Amino acid sequence: MSDFEKNVRETLANPKNQGEMEDAHSVGTVGSPDCGDMLRMWLKFTEKDGKKIIDKASFQSFGCQTAIAVASMATEMLKGKTAEEAQNLNAAELSAELGPLPPMKIHCGQLVEGALKNALNEDSTETNTPEIQTDSHTLASTISKHNKKTGTIKIIKLEE
Ligand code: FES
Repeated sequence: MSDFEKNVRETLANPKNQGEMEDAHSVGTVGSPDCGDMLRMWLKFTEKDGKKIIDKASFQSFGCQTAIAVASMATEMLKGKTAEEAQNLNAAELSAELGPLPPMKIHCGQLVEGALKNALNEDSTETNTPEIQTDSHTLASTISKHNKKTGTIKIIKLEE
């Protein structure tokens, strides 16, 4: 077993920061076009010396084990970082503690990076609208909302 596989296994035995965060300031959701997996990340900020600092981060995943392991490590690593520092982290840095991701798993790290960037850009503390719309904060509600927008499916019978 490679070091990477061992690290993923160890992280999954006790994943950190899993689940919805009720009092989050922002949330970001991404889906991977490569595999169809989805990941959502919540962030809560605090302020220190005039800087916006990440106080807590959590995630929910409909994804593979690598994405869960990266998200677990990333949400731990993000605590105490400024929003600016977090904005500059890429997938390789977020997953560094697991060891280099195998080529087939690189997009799993990018999924976590995407959710983080999405959450940072959606931060409601910037726009002075602190109230959070809790009905859109679960993956299930997002999916059902999107489903409503997809309309009907037209089935065309093929000629024989
Ligand atoms: Fe899709 Fe890992 S296989 S996120």
